[in-house]
This record gives sequence, C-alpha cells and structure tokens, in this order.
Amino acid sequence: MATWKMFLLQDSASPLMEQLSFFHDHTLMILLMITVLVGYLMSSLFFNKYNYRYLLEGQTIEVIWTILPAVTLIFIALPSLRLLYLLDEINNPSVSMKSIGHQWYWSYEYTDFKNIEFDSYMIPSSELKKSGFRLLDVDNRAVLPYNSQIRLMVTAADVLHSWTIPALSVKIDATPGRLNQVSFLLNRTGLFFGQCSEICGANHSFMPIVIESISPPFFIKWVSKMGEA
Ligand code: CUA
Repeated sequence: MATWKMFLLQDSASPLMEQLSFFHDHTLMILLMITVLVGYLMSSLFFNKYNYRYLLEGQTIEVIWTILPAVTLIFIALPSLRLLYLLDEINNPSVSMKSIGHQWYWSYEYTDFKNIEFDSYMIPSSELKKSGFRLLDVDNRAVLPYNSQIRLMVTAADVLHSWTIPALSVKIDATPGRLNQVSFLLNRTGLFFGQCSEICGANHSFMPIVIESISPPFFIKWVSKMGEA
C-alpha cells in the first residue's frame, strides 16, 4: 500500500506489475540519458567561443539527430506494446469475481461458488480500530487465492466508477450497462488496497477496494463458509 514519503511505484503483488515497474525504470533510465546529453550540449554552448559564418547546413548531423530520437522512441515503444498486450491477456482463469460499483461502495459476486454476494463499505474513521487503515479499510474484503489466475469482471449500477489497485496493475472502469474484464495473478499473500479512480460524486474518495490474498485451501474454506450463510 502507499505510505508516507513514497514517491515511486508501490511494491508489486503480481507478475504484470513487476514487469511494469521494470518498464518504468527502463524508461526513466532513457529519460536520464537524454537529459544528461541535452543538458551537456546546451550548457557547453555557453562556455565556448566557436563561430563559423558559412555554416548553413550539415547533412550528416541532421541525419543523425533525426534518426537517433526515432531509435530511442522504438526502445520505449516496443516494450510498452508488449506490456499493453500482456495486460489484456485472460490466461484461462481459475476464479472469476464480479465487482459492481455503486454510489458509494463496491459489491462483490462470486458466481463460481453458490452465488456468494456481499457489499463492501469503507470503515468510517470514527469506527476504525487501532490496526485499521484510515480511509482504506472496508468491512467486507474481497478474498482471493494467491498463485491462481483471477478473472475480474467490473460494472456499475449508477454512474462511472473505477476499480483500481496499483499493486496489481489493475485500473478498470466500472461502466453502467457494460461488463469490463481484466485478469491478474496474486503472487503473494497480504492485503492490497485501492481506491475508486473515476470522479463519481460526493463520496468518491470514500469507496476503497481491499483484496485479501490468501492461500487456495483457505480460500476454499472461506468460500464454503460464505456459501452456508
Ligand atoms: Cu466510485 Cu469514484
């Protein structure tokens, strides 16, 4: 989760987010190289007295400084496209979960198992326990098994919402009248927090999302307990 003084990406909890972190670092590295090169070139202009009145064109240098940025962009574009298509892959999921955005809470449905469904409201600050996370904790968390491919289906009942968990690299719009689909894989246990990311009204800031990632046997237990209720 995001904590104080974090200014880079959150730690990943899925292979795809790990790849995105690598891509972020790779792109920043290229950015740094460009900044250093251009910075050096520009500052060196201030500290020399070179001038040459008859310099009007230079075919060679113009070819170089046209091709070089194009090649640089390819080094960013190809890994970016690779990730873009990997993020869209569904990969034969073993669990499907449906999430519905409401004003202002999320509800969940696990239709693979006895039609489990429940609402997930933020815990108000006045009722928060010492161990709770202010403005992020919910009363009923979405429980999912780790090391299993998950399919998430997202829709909304009233206005646009957005189901977002940075550590999982999931950010998908919940749109009334439309069913969106993403897939992800949790590679560790833990709690993963997110918030609605589509301006959806007065309490937009107060409809967080919490994934409780647990081992598959415990997930089966949770499912059978929820199924009885
Ligand atoms: Cu729901 Cu913003």
